[in-house]
Amino acid sequence: MPTAYSTPNIALIKYWGNRSNPFRLPAADSLSMTLDSPGIRVRVELSDRFRIQSFDTGGREKLQSMKSIGRLRLHFDLTKHYLETLGRERDLPKNVSIRIDSSIPPAIGIASSAALFSALAEAYAAFVKGTPLSRQELSIIARLGSGSAARSVFGGFVTLENIPGDGIDSTVSRQIAPPNHWILHDVIIVPSQEEKKVGSTEGHAMAHTSPLFEARVKTIPRRMRECIEAIEKKDFEKLQCVSEEDALDMHRVMETQNPPLKYLSEETHRIIQEIESLQKKEKLEVLYTLDAGPTVHLLCTEPSLKAVQEFAESQKNCTLFKAKIGRGSYIQ
Ligand code: DP6
Repeated sequence: MPTAYSTPNIALIKYWGNRSNPFRLPAADSLSMTLDSPGIRVRVELSDRFRIQSFDTGGREKLQSMKSIGRLRLHFDLTKHYLETLGRERDLPKNVSIRIDSSIPPAIGIASSAALFSALAEAYAAFVKGTPLSRQELSIIARLGSGSAARSVFGGFVTLENIPGDGIDSTVSRQIAPPNHWILHDVIIVPSQEEKKVGSTEGHAMAHTSPLFEARVKTIPRRMRECIEAIEKKDFEKLQCVSEEDALDMHRVMETQNPPLKYLSEETHRIIQEIESLQKKEKLEVLYTLDAGPTVHLLCTEPSLKAVQEFAESQKNCTLFKAKIGRGSYIQ
């Protein structure tokens, strides 16, 4: 009865758009930093039927929508299918009962799906007897539930990379630097607590309709190289340049796809402007990045943390959260 734990990650080079939807094969590579909190614990047990129970931070049971039960069921079936391709499906039960304990506050603007599906991959893999599945195989299982979840299987700085082909295993994750390589912090400012109308899954599927999408996909290899080099050399300025460029580029694609997705609010733009001027004034090592929502992630080095935190605390009507680099998913 495996119990697994995992956390979200924040992308520096963003995953947006798929080359094939059922297996969530991305159109381009991406790169993220795994966070150490907040986390999700998942316990999987053998059962006579597929069951989900989910509890929030306060231990209150959350009712699951049909859509999210369907997504979890599909993920379980795809996991079985993938294990079949490895000839290792025998040990996975026919049906499972899943208990999810999430400490991700609902209002925080962090997608919980990366933590959830990487924890599930960890738990499903624990049923497989004999030689343990590799971390890459685990990341494939995580990706079948949520693309970015593949990266949370590893700690530190992690890529999600395409390899030739359109098979279920044609995209894998890889750790490029461990958590202790470079101590960076993520100060998260959530200006709005409104639930987004269009989720990432629907958004990815329509990314190709943006006239800017093709150019984005072509630019990613250059950005990946620059980002990896910046991380290897701990060159913050370089990391800032490439990651801010990429986040804004992803939002331009989102805003020009059909139907357009406008995730950023006036508050997001105001916070970005203010941090840019503070950065220049105080020479802070801080960069901003933005996912599919108005939340602003401020990544900073240890010496800049205090000033960035003070800046975040001065923001009115915002929810704040802080995280460091994490170790990725594991069995408890
Ligand atoms: C903007 O992994 O959330 O956060 O596969 O539909 O779950 P699904 O998509 P998801 O997409 C992540 C989009 C992003 C950028 C990123 O994390 O790379």
